[in-house]
Amino acid sequence: MVASWTPQSWRSKTIRQMPTYPDQQALEAAEARLAAYPPLVFAGEARNLRSQLARVAKGEAFLLQGGDCAESFAEFHANNIRDTFRVMLQMAVVLTFGAACPVVKVGRMAGQFAKPRSADMEKQGDVELPSYRGDIINEIAFEEAARRPDPERMILAYNQAAATLNLLRAFAQGGFADLHKVHRWNLEFVADSPQGERYEALASRIEETMAFMAACGLTAETVQPLRETDFFTSHEALLLNYEQALTRVDSLTGKPYDCSAHMLWIGDRTRQLDSAHVEFLRGVENPIGLKCGPSSDPDELCRLIEVLNPENDPGRLTLIARMAHDKVEELLPPLVRAVKREGFNVVWSCDPMHGNTVKSSTGYKTRPFDRILSEVRGFFAVHKAEGTYAGGVHFEMTGQDVTECLGGAQAIGEDSLADRYHTHCDPRLNASQALELAFLIAEQLKEERGSMGISADKVAAAS
Ligand code: PEP
Ligand code: CO
Repeated sequence: MVASWTPQSWRSKTIRQMPTYPDQQALEAAEARLAAYPPLVFAGEARNLRSQLARVAKGEAFLLQGGDCAESFAEFHANNIRDTFRVMLQMAVVLTFGAACPVVKVGRMAGQFAKPRSADMEKQGDVELPSYRGDIINEIAFEEAARRPDPERMILAYNQAAATLNLLRAFAQGGFADLHKVHRWNLEFVADSPQGERYEALASRIEETMAFMAACGLTAETVQPLRETDFFTSHEALLLNYEQALTRVDSLTGKPYDCSAHMLWIGDRTRQLDSAHVEFLRGVENPIGLKCGPSSDPDELCRLIEVLNPENDPGRLTLIARMAHDKVEELLPPLVRAVKREGFNVVWSCDPMHGNTVKSSTGYKTRPFDRILSEVRGFFAVHKAEGTYAGGVHFEMTGQDVTECLGGAQAIGEDSLADRYHTHCDPRLNASQALELAFLIAEQLKEERGSMGISADKVAAAS
């Protein structure tokens, strides 16, 4: 029998990857304040995302989930939010137009602050300090006071998430996402690159199509999806004190929702059956994700799915595989087969980032872009062979012109990593690499949909 769930039942489970706050009273005070603040998202929006993801599970749409590895207080700026948002729009348009496939857009934004770490402590010379765990917990500077977990940071994170979400909503609904502006989404520093030019060509075709549609009477004024878009937020539900404090009972359904974001996921390091993170997320009604790394075992995965999605609802659970470019074709099929055999309804998504992190000879944590592309190709190949849908991708990206991942059309080499390496955690794709990834996915998706006999009109008829 499954024990009853409460917003704090996670506290009696095995807690991993969470800080030990030195001042319990200060922690409780911060939790109480957060619990009294307004929710960041509305439960109805999370339900809407869940129903859109149900379409993804059925092969009728594609999930695009991306954004920062770790948002930071220092890089909190309207331009950063805008640029990440517009690269997501560009990627979505490449997929929608290139593969005639509706795209569900979910940002790793407005709450992606807490980070799991491979070691609790970090040593530099003779000094050992607690590891940096994300701005919501402590500070990145290697100093004792900075590394001390401070619950006030949860309040700062909440405020930053609220302001970020506010701007995202304005962009999504206030005219920025109007499809007539496709040309203007191209970032200046990308425009002259091969990806930028490829995007320009596609944008021109979209513009022509729009002119044709306008002549038929379909304009932004008359057709809402041409002028507005849905954009959802997500983050790893790692700092459960914060997640619990933002959990609310929805007045319409009487069910609990974690109102810190539309979608939450469980990381690869905290997905054990006895884990506090599994316990917490099993009880909230949001759509949730589960990272599946190389150590994922098919039987254990099936038991986790029973716990996390007991009603087998198709939009509830997204499995995010992050195997590594050279392991995906070996390690993913047993998981896909087990899930298929049990008849579990899930979305399969591919995170081609976290299995492909390496250290450059110059000491930077980086990711070779060709390995990222290769994992995505492998992911599509596995689903083709198994007769299942490659439902989405999950990636770390920024709209800024950074040099964090090796390769891509700009051919970023080991020597250039230092030029603009700004991440607070893992290396991210820059705008041009993100576009290149989108073009690759569009090709794969078009092929998948062709071979499965899915056409745009079938999708529209099903919606
Ligand atoms: C992440 O998505 O930033 C992350 C830490 O991933 P994973 O849990 O898959 O390692
Ligand atoms: Co990361």
